[in-house]
Amino acid sequence: MASSAHHQMRSKLSVAAAVLLLCAAGACLLSSSAEARPHHHSESDFYSIVGYSPEDLASHDRLIKLFEEWVAKHRKAYASFEEKLRRFEVFKDNLKHIDEINREVSSYWLGLNAFADLTNDEFKATYLGMINQNTPASRRSSSGSFRYAGVAAGELPKEVDWRKKGAVTEVKNQGQCGSCWAFSTVAAVEGINAIVTGNLTSLSEQELIDCSTDGNNGCNGGVMDYAFSYIAGSGGLHTEEAYPYLMEEGECDHKDDEQQAVVTISGYEDVPAGDEAALVKALAHQPVSVAIEASGRHFQFYSGGVFDGPCGAELDHGVAAVGYGSSKGQDYIVVKNSWGSHWGEKGYIRMKRGTGKRDGLCGINKMASYPTKDH
Ligand SMILES: *[C@@H]1O[C@H](CO)[C@@H](O)[C@H](O)[C@H]1NC(C)=O
Repeated sequence: MASSAHHQMRSKLSVAAAVLLLCAAGACLLSSSAEARPHHHSESDFYSIVGYSPEDLASHDRLIKLFEEWVAKHRKAYASFEEKLRRFEVFKDNLKHIDEINREVSSYWLGLNAFADLTNDEFKATYLGMINQNTPASRRSSSGSFRYAGVAAGELPKEVDWRKKGAVTEVKNQGQCGSCWAFSTVAAVEGINAIVTGNLTSLSEQELIDCSTDGNNGCNGGVMDYAFSYIAGSGGLHTEEAYPYLMEEGECDHKDDEQQAVVTISGYEDVPAGDEAALVKALAHQPVSVAIEASGRHFQFYSGGVFDGPCGAELDHGVAAVGYGSSKGQDYIVVKNSWGSHWGEKGYIRMKRGTGKRDGLCGINKMASYPTKDH
């Protein structure tokens, strides 16, 4: 960038920072716009959910101010002014994408979340963590049985939400570590444990990262079935409190000398691949670990609604299905993600079901599995 433009930018950014202080004191409100709103929310509600308003796009000064507000909200710190400028360019490009989709699509909406200064490639490299297992043969086979096969579809409730039944812990955040597989596994184990024992206890992803290394690769990815197999064989998983998350790989600590409580499972089973009815049957009985393709730019910025793509079915992320239902004629699966509670709908995404595609939306029907626990 030419140095005069650079100086101009620098002074605008500092002016924007001064405006920000006023905003922090409550003196600044986003005014609502007269343009047609893309969704059923009231317009000001909608734009406060997605984190910008149409006027922010109208001038460079407004964009700078919006960026400064976003930087402060997400406590971003950049190593240099050049880096900040570079991030501002990425932010603008992402905002343009977000706004385009919000004008085009009505079933779901995108927002300026904590990933707004990352290119899609940077995002992909950092926040996922599923070892791609495209060939079914490479999947460690479990018992081969599917205990919910005999459940009649007509007997299933119209909707199930394990959060309301006290079987889902708070939304967690994997941070910059490809450990999604551990979060997916733990959510399913927390679920079956709560259902069987009545005790909802947050369990340790870190223990899986450190100890479940047979087939799994810590912050560089893993597969939920390998992690279930580890838990079934190791005698149980420690609590989150006893073995807290560090966001990096560490030494496996069996905590042998400490009489710590562990949560056990008996084993695990796979939901028949490509069978959404089977996935729903399992989900009616317990939270289920599922693998999806989550690397797309739409997924990166999902803010709410029933997501219906675009996305492919190259599995790159492990998450947990915790319910299903339908809204305005759209059937969906409720999915707990591990990107903190500010992503999506308080950390969750509703993913369309009944797409007519064997793999399901983003491949959700391809590799679902769940732990088993005998009473
Ligand atoms: C719930 O389970 C955890 C982990 O096993 C244990 O530490 C805790 O005491 C249990 N709580 C109750 C009320 O049983």
